[in-house]
Amino acid sequence: MNEISELRKRYLVLINSADTDSALEDVRIKALGKKGEIALKMRELGKMNMEQRQAQGPVLNALKEEINNLIKTQKDNIEGQLLDSRVASEWMDISCSTRLSGGGSVHPVTQVTEEVIAIFSSLGFKVADGPQVESDYYNFDALNIPPEHPARQEFDTFYISGDEDDQTPSNVLRTHTSPVQIRHMQQVNGPCRIIAPGRVFRSDYDQTHTPMFHQVEGLAIDTDISMANLKWVLEEFCRAFFEVETVQLRFRSSHFPFTEPSAEVDIRCSWVDNQLKIGEGNDWMEILGSGMVHPKVLEAVGLDSDKYQGFAFGVGIDRIAMLKYGIPDLRSFFDSDLRWLRHFGFSGNDYPALHSGLSKF
Ligand code: DAH
Repeated sequence: MNEISELRKRYLVLINSADTDSALEDVRIKALGKKGEIALKMRELGKMNMEQRQAQGPVLNALKEEINNLIKTQKDNIEGQLLDSRVASEWMDISCSTRLSGGGSVHPVTQVTEEVIAIFSSLGFKVADGPQVESDYYNFDALNIPPEHPARQEFDTFYISGDEDDQTPSNVLRTHTSPVQIRHMQQVNGPCRIIAPGRVFRSDYDQTHTPMFHQVEGLAIDTDISMANLKWVLEEFCRAFFEVETVQLRFRSSHFPFTEPSAEVDIRCSWVDNQLKIGEGNDWMEILGSGMVHPKVLEAVGLDSDKYQGFAFGVGIDRIAMLKYGIPDLRSFFDSDLRWLRHFGFSGNDYPALHSGLSKF
């Protein structure tokens, strides 16, 4: 009897101190396995007389059952502890947002370019394109800016040098979108209406200048085009772009080598509490350069300047974006500052279309 209670005590300790599944399994085999201590004790019953067996049998059976139960309880404990430690280490903050909020946004330059395209498309202009690395010829000569012309200096051109013994004329990063006029006229060789938005480059840097910026060129060629057409198109554009009922434009005499006559165009505006209002007031703000295409430019692309004439204009896309959306510093456009992009960027759903409120046509 003593022996059995001794056995029981030993196993109670062993079971309670087994802290992993496999340690507990070892204890179980040691006690209840085929060659386990309890099994051996059971076998001893066979050698006993009836009386002894009747006394010992139930005690051993009770012990077997008790040990079985204790092992089961300990197994539950071990699993419980395992679960507790997993819950402690793998917790999840369900108050956190499940989705990344706010993806990218559409850059104001992209948005304004699309706005400009939408407006001019509705006026019958197609979009044309040209290379950003341009030859001297297209960027200057064909636009009536010969090598000795002072305007070449004014452009702060980035030149691309070839090899030392390279005799071919140098290339430049285009300083304006005007060379697209030349390329397009060469292609169609007759009447056309295009705009050409894109990147241009000049070696200049301050609050209103960056070495890379954006322009949109406009060109209309036909046999009966006058400055009146130019004025109407620009007025319609400004009305639609700035989303105002009426605009007033002032054509100021100017000079560009590729137009004759040339005009810089100002728009009537006012400044109220440092806020620009387009369309009314007593101030004027310069917004673009324009004119009638110079006969020499027409001749350079093989068009008969007695038969054809046309207008052209060039607008700074970033500049009109600044005016429309109240962006104070041009340099910030190209800083890639996420806070700026989130503030001034547009949602992909704001795709500009005349029917969605961009225009009051
Ligand atoms: N290319 C000129 C510039 O970058 C802008 C310009 C002025 C374009 C008059 C034109 C134009 O087509 O007619 O300063």
